[in-house]
Amino acid sequence: MTNIVVIGAQWGDEGKGKIVDLMSEKADVVVRFQGGNNAGHTLVVDGVTYKLQLLPSGIVRGKTSVIGNGVVVNPWGLREEMKRISDLGTKISPDVLKISDQATLILPLHQELDHMSEEAAGKGKIGTTGKGIGPAYQDKVARRAIRVGDLAEPETLRMKVDNLLLFHNGLRKGWGQPLIDADDLMKQLTEIADFILPYAVPGWKILADKIDEGKAILFEGAQATMLDNDFGTYPFVTSSNTIAGQAAVGSGVGMKYIDKVVGVVKAYTTRVGAGPFPTELFDSDGDHIREKGREYGTVTGRPRRCGWFDAVLVRQAIRVNGIHSLAVMKLDILDEFDEIKVCVGYDLDGKKLDYFPMQFNASANVKPIYETLPGWKSSTFGVRDYAKLPENAKKYLKRLEELLGVKIGMISTSPEREDTIIIENPYEN
Ligand code: IMO
Ligand code: MG
Repeated sequence: MTNIVVIGAQWGDEGKGKIVDLMSEKADVVVRFQGGNNAGHTLVVDGVTYKLQLLPSGIVRGKTSVIGNGVVVNPWGLREEMKRISDLGTKISPDVLKISDQATLILPLHQELDHMSEEAAGKGKIGTTGKGIGPAYQDKVARRAIRVGDLAEPETLRMKVDNLLLFHNGLRKGWGQPLIDADDLMKQLTEIADFILPYAVPGWKILADKIDEGKAILFEGAQATMLDNDFGTYPFVTSSNTIAGQAAVGSGVGMKYIDKVVGVVKAYTTRVGAGPFPTELFDSDGDHIREKGREYGTVTGRPRRCGWFDAVLVRQAIRVNGIHSLAVMKLDILDEFDEIKVCVGYDLDGKKLDYFPMQFNASANVKPIYETLPGWKSSTFGVRDYAKLPENAKKYLKRLEELLGVKIGMISTSPEREDTIIIENPYEN
């Protein structure tokens, strides 16, 4: 069976949830392999809106949904999310939802530290989602994290809690914050253990067994390439690797089983939080995209920064991920423009660049070189057939394919699952 990775190729919020939901019809298992409840994946099925943060998007179709070892799990957040999604009629049980026992826990102290560091950074803040993602990954890499499976061994847990607090209470003392009592934290963890342990499994083994049975696995990326901890606009990034290569690491599935990578992009660009953004618009065009595209964060409600499509950036994403085909989302948001711009290169102090430089000043100072295309000035909302797209919309998409060197396999024209033009089904080509 074909195992496919879906990732974001811009700065997040591209519509990965919709594509994963759509593709999961043909998959048996959907796996999250990085990130945590900083993600906000929205699906609309028959008029019902599902806002998922940690649950894999396959849960809505009742597909086996795995939260992989590479994910950071806030068990209290997950409990709330499961309640919210169950209330919409989706059944969630240990038969469907599997959480890797090797996944790292996000604790309340991580969320507090996230807020404290952002406050202390003042103008230099990252603009995180405030979910404790960075601090949880820091503890993982520093080998002091508490993992899901640790909750099953109370004595080990106590040792781990003491070790963790040795570090965190030292830090909190320095920051003038109240210290955390080990007994209190143990109590909280023991209570949440009863909720989460029934879902805890060796994630890698579940997936290996599914592969042996010939099942199809769909890997659901969160965040996006330009938020990748190595390849994004560091330090204005998230704290995990978000690119396709992480699908293997964050799930325990060997690389030889991964067949394809689908990249998801919007027909324009958005970014939430701080950091460089060459094609950002500060005028009424940007406002138009924000209002028509309802570009406000799912997780934090913050207005998103909006701009034209950046082909340099997406080409870079195509290369570091090894993207086979693209899904272009929210085409209809561009319906009313007379002219549409696409960034085809950068100018840095008179020098042309065909990639996004890593240096702080250079990345902030590159000027986009634009190509201008005529708009189509008619509605593409809800169009499900490529032939029915206006000529100029087809020309826009064709030009993107030329600039990017990759085929556009899917085009989305509304948040609804069915409002999608499928040119090339990744399971069939
Ligand atoms: P989905 O999966 C857009 C951004 C935050 C901030 C930076 C670091 O819905 O595409 P973090 O809380 O991760 O430490 O914040 O990353 N960010 C996202 N932006 N979509 C997301 O997820 C994001 N997850 C994190 O705004 O700039
Ligand atoms: Mg989001």
